[in-house]
Amino acid sequence: MHGTDATGSARSGTAPWWRDAVIYQIYIRSFADGNGDGMGDIAGIRSRLPYLRDLGVDALWITPWYPSPQADAGYDVADFRDIDPRFGTLAEAEALIAEAHEHGLRVIPDIVPNHVSDQHVWFRAALAAGPGSPERERFVFRPGRGPDGAEPPNNWRSAFGGSAWTRAADPDGSPGEWYLHLFAPEQPDLNWENPEVHAEFQSVLRFWFDRDVDGFRIDVAHGLVKDADLPDLLDDTSAYPAGAHPHQDRDAVHEIYRAWRRVADEYPGDRKFVAEAHTPTPDRLANYVRSDRLHTAFNFDFLRCPWDADAFREVIDTTTSYLEEVGAPATWVLSNHDVIRHPSRYGRSLQEWPYGGRFSAETPLDLELGLRRARAAALLMLALPGGAYVYQGEELGLWEVEDLPDEVLQDPIWERSGRTERGRDGCRVPLPWSGTAPPFGFSPDGSGAEPWLPQPEEWKEYTARAQDGRPESVLGLYRTALRLRREHPALGEGELEWSEADEGALSFTRAPGFGCVANLSNRPCPLPRGRVLLASGPLEEDRLPPDTAVWLAL
Ligand code: NOJ
Repeated sequence: MHGTDATGSARSGTAPWWRDAVIYQIYIRSFADGNGDGMGDIAGIRSRLPYLRDLGVDALWITPWYPSPQADAGYDVADFRDIDPRFGTLAEAEALIAEAHEHGLRVIPDIVPNHVSDQHVWFRAALAAGPGSPERERFVFRPGRGPDGAEPPNNWRSAFGGSAWTRAADPDGSPGEWYLHLFAPEQPDLNWENPEVHAEFQSVLRFWFDRDVDGFRIDVAHGLVKDADLPDLLDDTSAYPAGAHPHQDRDAVHEIYRAWRRVADEYPGDRKFVAEAHTPTPDRLANYVRSDRLHTAFNFDFLRCPWDADAFREVIDTTTSYLEEVGAPATWVLSNHDVIRHPSRYGRSLQEWPYGGRFSAETPLDLELGLRRARAAALLMLALPGGAYVYQGEELGLWEVEDLPDEVLQDPIWERSGRTERGRDGCRVPLPWSGTAPPFGFSPDGSGAEPWLPQPEEWKEYTARAQDGRPESVLGLYRTALRLRREHPALGEGELEWSEADEGALSFTRAPGFGCVANLSNRPCPLPRGRVLLASGPLEEDRLPPDTAVWLAL
C-alpha cells in the first residue's frame, strides 16, 4: 500500500499525500461502540470504515488508544506499546490499520510525549526508587520550598487548574519530593533532558511505524522542554520574549523533532507528523514545520477565529505567508475534542472563549444561525490551499451539548477547577448513527448499553442514517464537498487569489477555474458569474444570502 496513492485521489501527482489531505479525527471513546459497553472502540471504528471511505476523507487521526486509567480520557498513557482492553487488542489495531489501508484511508495515532500516566511502569518505579535515583531522573522531581518542603517548588499552574506540582511520598511513606504535571496529577511530566526519554520515544515511533501507521499526531508538542532552573512564571506571560517562556515553545524542542523526522524518513511511504503546538505567534509555529522537523501543525488561529470576514482573511493570509517561507502546507481546522463545537460558537454574538473553556450560561445561543454558519465555514475551509481536519460529528452538524448533568461530567477540568468550569465533555458526546432514540445505534442493537455520556433527543434528526441520501443535509454537503475537492484540479494544495467583495464577504479564486465566496455579513452580497458547483444554503438568483458560502466553476 505504501508508496502508492492510498487515497485514490484524482490529483495524485507526485506531492506527498499529507500536503493536502483531509484528516478525520476519531475521538475513539465516542465514535462507535463495537463491544457493547457504551464506549467507542476499535471494533466500532472497523465497522464504520465504509462510512469514512464514502465520506471522502483521506486519513484518520485516532485519539489515544493505549492502556490508560483514563484520568484524562486516554491522554494519560500507561503503556505506549499496547491497546487499552476497553478499546480492543493490539491485533485488532493491526487489523484496523490494514483494513483502513484497503479502503484507501491512512491511519495516524496520537502520541503523548509530554507526560505519561502515574500508572506507567516508569512512574511507579520512580516513586519506589526514591530521591536521587535514575528512575526519578525520567521525571521532574524537586524538593519543595518552605521549612518542611511543604510548598511546591515554583508557581506553575496545571492547565486543568491548581498547582502543577504534587508532593510524592518517599519509599518509606513520609512526605518527600514534588513532581511536575502541567496537566492532571495523574499525568507526570517527562524529563526531556534525559537521553533515555529520547530513546524511548524513538523506539515507540518505530514500534508503530513497523505496524504500518502513516504518521502521528503529537500531543502538547510545544511543551516538552522546560527551563532546567524551573523559575517562577511571570504574572504576565505575554512579557516573555520568543522562546523564553519556561515551559512553552522553547527552542530546544526542535532537536527532538529533528530526530523524530529522521526516524520517520527511514520508513517508506511518506509518514507524517502533525503537531499540536501552541505558540505565541505564527512565525514560531512555522518553526515546527521547517523541512528537517515536523510536516504539519494544527492551525488554531483559524479555529479560534470569530465569525468575521476581516479576521478570517487576516488568519488565512498570515498562515499562508509564514508557512510558504518554510515550504510547509497550511492546515485548517474548525473543531476538535478540546473546544466547543463550532455551530455553538458561531451561533453566539460574543464568540471569545478560552481555549478548552466554555461560554457562560448568559451568552445566548442561536443554534439555527450557528448551523448555517457552520455549513458555510465547511465550504470556506475545504476550498483553502493545504490540508484540513474534520472532527467526528461535524459532518453531521452536531453541536455542543451544554446541558450535561453535573454527575456525568468526566473531564478532569470539572473537579480540578472546584466545579467552576464544566470542561470539554460537551463536544465529546457519542455520535448518533441511526434510529430515533438514544443510543442512536452508537452501541450494537440489543446490547442495552448506555453511552458513556448521554446524547440529546434532538439528535434523532442528525443521525448518519437520517441524513444519508439527502444532498441538502450537512452530511450530504460534506460528502459532495469532499468529492468535488478530490475531483477539482484547483483544490487541495496551491494558491488563492483574493477577489473584490462586499464588506463582510470573502471571495477568492483558485486556478484553474474555481471560485469561492463566503458571505459572513448580515445582508446579501452579489454572486460573481459562474456555474454553481455547491452552495452551503439556498441562493437568491444572483445574490448570496448572509452566512452562506458557494463554490463556483468560473
Ligand atoms: C491536548 C489534548 O488534546 C487534550 O485533550 C489533553 O487533555 C491534553 N493535551 C493533555 O494531554
